[in-house]
Amino acid sequence: MEKVIIDTDPGVDDAMAVLYACISPDIELMGLTSIFGNVTTEIATRNALALLELAGVSAPVARGAEKPLVQDQREPAWEVHGREGFGDVPPMSPKKQAVEESAAEFICRVVNEIPGEIILCPVGPLTNIALALRHDPSIASKVKGVTIMGGSIDEGGNVTPYAEANIWQDPHAADEVFAADWPITLVGLDVTHRVICTPEDFKSLTDDAPKLGGFLNDAAQFYFQFHRKVDGIYGCHMHDPTAVISILHPELFDVDHQPLEVIVEGEEIGRTILSRKEDRRSFSVFRKVNVDGVREEFLSMIKSGF
Ligand code: BDR
Ligand code: CA
Repeated sequence: MEKVIIDTDPGVDDAMAVLYACISPDIELMGLTSIFGNVTTEIATRNALALLELAGVSAPVARGAEKPLVQDQREPAWEVHGREGFGDVPPMSPKKQAVEESAAEFICRVVNEIPGEIILCPVGPLTNIALALRHDPSIASKVKGVTIMGGSIDEGGNVTPYAEANIWQDPHAADEVFAADWPITLVGLDVTHRVICTPEDFKSLTDDAPKLGGFLNDAAQFYFQFHRKVDGIYGCHMHDPTAVISILHPELFDVDHQPLEVIVEGEEIGRTILSRKEDRRSFSVFRKVNVDGVREEFLSMIKSGF
């Protein structure tokens, strides 16, 4: 059983990742922390609370940063995830509220309470994670792991020719996170662009798990349209669920060990590159993926829900 905190900007594929974690018997979801990116932090917080309520999971939600560390805030990814984050699904009104601690305070407290046990899984911009490191640098030696959906080594970007969206939204935060001495696993576009689910896959979720699968199918329709228009693919990229699945199933990935840094200015801002800086430690960087293995794990887990 892995104890996981997901830092998220929900977001259609974020919803897939969070519901996978809620259903999996091998993940104890210790909390969600919210961040801007696909939507504003306010909407991300509401959507995080709504996902837990939908799944009947009572984990806490801590509200994250409102803006990037250094650069001006970029527009949320409305065109990818819709104005409210879950495509055309109308906004939900969760009953619970976020805890009083900030996301960074929450992360530091929980990591310190059970050192060696927490896996952080950021699937949005890395602002909260960088702020947590600033708040208490000792968490670097106390986490079990940091599994990041973000970046791209050979695949190019998805918001510019160079940059992946999560890194591009706060490149300075990402570079601080990559400069720390802790065990990162990078799940970037090199693998997440390979993992595609089709409208038929999502329809089958509705049939087998009407509540959670049905919700994901409804939310995914807008996301499918975006992928059809912009990427010319029939289906959608499974970015964030691939990251969560990799925590339980690292055997589905080929890994390299490399130090990383982020370009923080100029035309290539937000690009993730292999670092030559001597003080950077090597991280696990996923380069290849067993596509069918990840797809089947996702679909069968959601179908085992309700
Ligand atoms: C990442 O950006 C967001 O749009 C997705 O939720 C995912 O985390 C993919 O680049
Ligand atoms: Ca995300």
